[in-house]
Amino acid sequence: MKIVESLIEEISTLFDEYSISEEIDFKISHIQSFDYQINNLVKYQKNKKIDEIVDKINVLLAEHNVVEDFEITKNYFINIRINLDSCEKFLSNIKDNLLTSEPKKILIDYGGPNIGKPLHVGHLRSLNIGRSLKEINKTVGHKVTTDIHLGDWGMPIAQIIAFCEKENIDIKTITAEKLIDIYPKASTLYSDSEDFQNLAKEKNKELNNQEKIVMEQWSLLKKISIESITETLNLLNHDFDLWLGESDVNELIEPMIKSLKKEGKLQIDDNALVSTQNEDPKILIAKSDGSYLYLTTDLATIIDRLNNNDFDIALYVVDSRQKLHFNQLFKTVEYFDFPKRDYQHIDFGTINNMEGKPFKTREGGTEKLISLYNQTFEYIQNINKDLDENTIHKLSNTVLTYSDLLTNRKTDYKFNLKKFTNISGKTGIYVQYAQVRAKKIILNSKFEQDSNKLFISNTSERNLVIGLLNLELILNQSIKYSEPHHLANYLYEISNLFNIFYQEENILNLNDEASKKSKLILINYFLKISELVFKCLGMETVEEM
Ligand code: ARG
Repeated sequence: MKIVESLIEEISTLFDEYSISEEIDFKISHIQSFDYQINNLVKYQKNKKIDEIVDKINVLLAEHNVVEDFEITKNYFINIRINLDSCEKFLSNIKDNLLTSEPKKILIDYGGPNIGKPLHVGHLRSLNIGRSLKEINKTVGHKVTTDIHLGDWGMPIAQIIAFCEKENIDIKTITAEKLIDIYPKASTLYSDSEDFQNLAKEKNKELNNQEKIVMEQWSLLKKISIESITETLNLLNHDFDLWLGESDVNELIEPMIKSLKKEGKLQIDDNALVSTQNEDPKILIAKSDGSYLYLTTDLATIIDRLNNNDFDIALYVVDSRQKLHFNQLFKTVEYFDFPKRDYQHIDFGTINNMEGKPFKTREGGTEKLISLYNQTFEYIQNINKDLDENTIHKLSNTVLTYSDLLTNRKTDYKFNLKKFTNISGKTGIYVQYAQVRAKKIILNSKFEQDSNKLFISNTSERNLVIGLLNLELILNQSIKYSEPHHLANYLYEISNLFNIFYQEENILNLNDEASKKSKLILINYFLKISELVFKCLGMETVEEM
């Protein structure tokens, strides 16, 4: 049984009768004796039927079994206090209770590394947000497919191949390290030298024609690159259902263009191929030299997904600088009359260093993601010399993930190791520590959940129960806006409520067995929900700290 949702639904139906068709503004209350607050009615004070509406709400809430108490203030705020019996029903079967009645197919495109380049700090947010959205949506029962969507085709690759040819580098001998070195050199040379430009364009043409030698070189480069990308991803605990990329849709582009031409959706403009939609700037589909664009590949990728991994919703977790690209893509998809689906760009801001500047190595290159992990690992190891490596590893990933997800995704933030590893405050370490404490008590008490009932004896216990109940509301919010920060904040809130409750008395020393048992049940609920939220955020819990 869903508590919050059932209330929202019933009130919503009632509002509908009075043509108030808007989303129910259901919030956590900050008034002492109430848990939730509904604000919609405030603006209908002057409605002719307001008295009638209030009467009906009075009846509905008075009879509702999850409501213990309520009031409708003279300004028409509705305040609700929840009946704790219903909370326990909800908590004791939390996983099923969170399941949606309308499961959808969701495709999440995130990570998006380019072969030839290592994973760098700039990839962290897409990875964290993407993984969290995957877990959150799975938790409520949506069917999620993830695709890393590799940048593994086109000019950047052609540049690397051209560079190797020019410098007599045997691609068979290239290591991942060497590749990292080549990539920026090749792209600088491409901007500086016309001769090199021509060579790279030639290689790109050969790639598009799938000529044997260049395809073998491409395939070797891809293999080396994926090996190094996978190594970092494994360390950071990421996996993907699909390892597709730009190269996989190459063959769909020409037939797509052909049929769009037939439908009159494309025209020649200055030797280039543009969409006939009324858009400024014009949507370019193929350049005058015949090469395709990032947008063209993304269109073909959609066709491929519709055919092979169809979805109701596609989430593109890509940084805010690509806003224009996705705006254009989604408008074009509509104009081209592709089957109707819900496309969303889940954009995010930048992670900066302590000075608020983009991360760079001492030499001025892009900072590798693995080096950020290593720094974090060493930092934590230094302050916790006794912890085993696996625990430090999990804590490092927690720090890299939690601090990132805590920030509203649209906001830039500064990576501050000292702050993010603090044991107090909103940190990954703090939330880990709370769940370790809970685990320890449960373990030491030899607790077994049986038919015993939870009974609430003080405010801190009640606050914790209601805090746990709030998961439903927070999870829905995170899903609706694809914003994990609500859940990240929530994890801090419940950890804090747990700590307050925990510090009040020494639970294991209590003489009253029934009371001790009840408190242990509550701790166990906290532990379960905390673990569930950890999972939703893509973090692993540790056993000790
Ligand atoms: N490889 C791209 C980049 O580095 C990101 C890909 C994002 N996904 C997409 N379908 N466009 O900018």
